Amino acid sequence: MRIIMLGAPGVGKGTISSELTKLYNIPQISTGDILRSEVSKGSEIGKKAESFMKGGGLVPDDIIMECVESRLSEDDCTNGFILDGFPRTIAQAELLKTLLHRKSLSLNAIINLEAPEDLIMRRLTSRRTCSNPSCQAIFNIYTKPPKRDGVCDFCESPLVQREDEKEEVIMHRLRVYKENTLPLIEYYKNEPIFFSIPCIDPKETVDGIRRRLDS
Ligand code: AP5
Repeated sequence: MRIIMLGAPGVGKGTISSELTKLYNIPQISTGDILRSEVSKGSEIGKKAESFMKGGGLVPDDIIMECVESRLSEDDCTNGFILDGFPRTIAQAELLKTLLHRKSLSLNAIINLEAPEDLIMRRLTSRRTCSNPSCQAIFNIYTKPPKRDGVCDFCESPLVQREDEKEEVIMHRLRVYKENTLPLIEYYKNEPIFFSIPCIDPKETVDGIRRRLDS
């Protein structure tokens, strides 16, 4: 199963993707998680990406493609993958098309998650993320609190607010999304594997996606 997960910052791409990975036994490939892990390692990619991420802008396409291409060639992608937060520009979508063609792979679904902007704002300001770069589990102080305050349920590392979760940075990320990523809906909407689904209640969203994928 090969899936693209589209949607605004904070709509729930990471939350829904992590449920689908368990159902279909495929990895979630989040370009945001890959980049945050590179930043915390202080790698060359991390150094180049850091300033774009802090300000809520997009990291240049060549850096993103390097990350995606190398990740897709890992063994756990043989049965498929979920691309979470990639592609994010028409140029990335074109480069992905070429990459998949070169690997003789096709996609099974392009899913667009939808939620009202005020809900998205509330979710992003109340999200807490595991600080361990190889975990990065997502919690929410209202809707998905950890068992112990401020501590990850899975690896017991401290939970933190991401650097790009300040209100003015969130507003900028939403503007960047509208300008650069929203046009992807137009780009993909005539593909028979494209569909949009509300992301209000996570269980309903996962059940709805499952019905579409298994039909
Ligand atoms: P990235 O990490 O991809 O951030 P994003 O797309 O802005 O998405 P988020 O991770 O903020 O949100 P999400 O939709 O996954 O929501 P989540 O499930 O966590 O990218 C970060 C940065 O990296 C970018 O700004 C850019 O600089 C760079 N970058 C990454 N990819 C790039 C690319 N391809 N090209 C260029 N640059 C790139 O949910 C949010 C909160 O809400 C959580 O607390 C969750 O528990 C809660 N929640 C979610 N869904 C529900 C629900 N249905 N009900 C109740 N609570 C919910």
